[in-house]
Amino acid sequence: MTADSAAPSGPGPDGPRHVAIIMDGNGRWAKAKGLPRALGHREGVQALKRTIQAAPDFGIRCLTVFGFSTENWSRPAEEVSDLMGLVRTYVASDLARLEKAGVRLRILGRREGLPADIAAIIDKAEAQTAHNDKFMLQVAFNYGGRADLIDAARRHAERILAGETTEPLNEENFAAGLATAGSPPLDLIIRTSGEQRLSNFLLWEAAYAELVFQDILWPDYGPKALGEAVAAFAQRERRYGGREPAPARVSA
Ligand code: IPE
Ligand code: IPE
Ligand code: MG
Repeated sequence: MTADSAAPSGPGPDGPRHVAIIMDGNGRWAKAKGLPRALGHREGVQALKRTIQAAPDFGIRCLTVFGFSTENWSRPAEEVSDLMGLVRTYVASDLARLEKAGVRLRILGRREGLPADIAAIIDKAEAQTAHNDKFMLQVAFNYGGRADLIDAARRHAERILAGETTEPLNEENFAAGLATAGSPPLDLIIRTSGEQRLSNFLLWEAAYAELVFQDILWPDYGPKALGEAVAAFAQRERRYGGREPAPARVSA
């Protein structure tokens, strides 16, 4: 195994504050080694742990990772159940440590459709870390960008019907209904494994995020690869539709 474990080089002035990762390639990693896919997913959790630990060293304040999409239900039942099992073991083994490290954990995605015990684990993990503000970790699980857009629109309509607001829909009140409401503007989306698509991840938030695609398979990810993505980000000129290049990160 070539786990990426080199020491990070530290945050730059234009480092991304909010980074999202499409953690892809667990299956191919396992296949290349003649191992069952479940082991690829298990190593993927180790890569996630390494990446979370390294993120603050690059000045990242919020990390959003794609763990399970609304489309991933179409995988064989055995694989779906392996992925659910990993949530149980990850939260059981890491929640106390995350809480102590000042991490606020949020799960993005629909609770309906999840096994009842997973929904309960998620609720507990969120409640237990809600007071933390050093670092935000958002795990998209049973998440789909389109479903989230529909939910946000529905929330606004419900507020109007309930007489809670008379405000017409606008970008601000719409974004307040998204699963990511309250997290910093998204600066960078990373996708591993060489695929170059969003696969229904953070469709609204991606509007002006920089995209970095890396050929590494997710179970091999870690501080070195994250450092390379952050370095690529720092080279980008963000213009937001204007003519003048802005620094890579918006100072909000
Ligand atoms: C990413 O790895 C993890 C999830 C989608 C849950 P994959 O399982 O998609 O791995 P590949 O794309 O088949 O290699
Ligand atoms: C996206 O990866 C979902 C996660 C990483 C959880 P997929 O492997 O499901 O995406 P596609 O099917 O290749 O587009
Ligand atoms: Mg994949």
